[in-house]
Amino acid sequence: MLKQLEEIKSTALQELEDISSIKELKSWPVRYLGKKSELTKILRSLSTLPLNERKNVGAYANKVKVNLENSLDQKEQVLREAELAASAKRKVIDITLPSRPFPTGHLHPITQTLYEICDIFVSMGFQVVEGPEVEWDYYNFEALNIPKEHPARDTMSTSWIDCENESGERPMLLRTHTTSVTARIIETMQPPIRVVEPGKVYRYEASDATHTPMFYQIDGLAVDKGITMADVKGTLYEFARRFFGEDRKVRFRCDYFPFVEPGIEMAIECLVCRGAGCRLCGNSGWIEILGAGMTHPQVLERGGLDPEIYTSFAFGMGIDRLPMLRYGIDDIRLFYSSDIRFLRQF
Ligand code: DAH
Repeated sequence: MLKQLEEIKSTALQELEDISSIKELKSWPVRYLGKKSELTKILRSLSTLPLNERKNVGAYANKVKVNLENSLDQKEQVLREAELAASAKRKVIDITLPSRPFPTGHLHPITQTLYEICDIFVSMGFQVVEGPEVEWDYYNFEALNIPKEHPARDTMSTSWIDCENESGERPMLLRTHTTSVTARIIETMQPPIRVVEPGKVYRYEASDATHTPMFYQIDGLAVDKGITMADVKGTLYEFARRFFGEDRKVRFRCDYFPFVEPGIEMAIECLVCRGAGCRLCGNSGWIEILGAGMTHPQVLERGGLDPEIYTSFAFGMGIDRLPMLRYGIDDIRLFYSSDIRFLRQF
């Protein structure tokens, strides 16, 4: 039996030596170490041998097994290295090929618009500031000449925060306009002031094609000695010229906002019909885009600025409508539905 083991060993090793690829190597362990191999058969039959023979044959058979297993490992390593070296030689790497494009996202159309607007005002000497979205009643209303029970409160469907003070009032809300930041700036900054205040605002409203409970606004404020109506008109006219194009007509009309006196609204010539009248502009030829005016003396005074020394103008506009007008988007909800097919277009 020892002789038989010796033979198994030498044929197996001889055969192993002749193998020249990993593929060929696959069947070798099946043949010499597998369940049906001669060696396994001998190992299994050990218990049938007389005791003294069992010891010798058993020890030798195990030695052969270990020897074959080690030889297999070595051979496999040698073959793998050889194949790797061969494939490296075969592959020519062309380092002049351009790299594969790496997919990157881009800014949301509303953010793009916001940045563009801020850039225009920054180039005119304004500074960009931000304020809190959860706001005190005071800055959103009171400081802006909208006391409790004032009818102007009803025009803004407010989302109140569920917290009460000792008098049972709810003094906090999700700001309904970015004009709340104007109230804060008047209180904290010293003139000369030139700021724009972009951000999210909230109204307690169901969404439809033209409304969402959250949308974007930007307010602006300038406080200095000798600011007049001519400055509001000049600044906003320049903004409209840069944002909508040089030849776009602009119209100013009187309007009412409690925190400005006088108050005005600015409209631009309709982007679709250029003034002729169409569905988009309700046949008027004009599209209203912002409210503005001379900051009310009481608002300045409440914030600690003397209206006898300083005058000020303010303006505020919705952002979402601007890309809608520019790209002809007819449903505001598309901006907030995260549909990548829509967003990729900008
Ligand atoms: N806050 C007003 C709104 O949401 C817009 C506005 C009008 C802002 C006139 C102003 C302003 O700063 O002067 O409807």
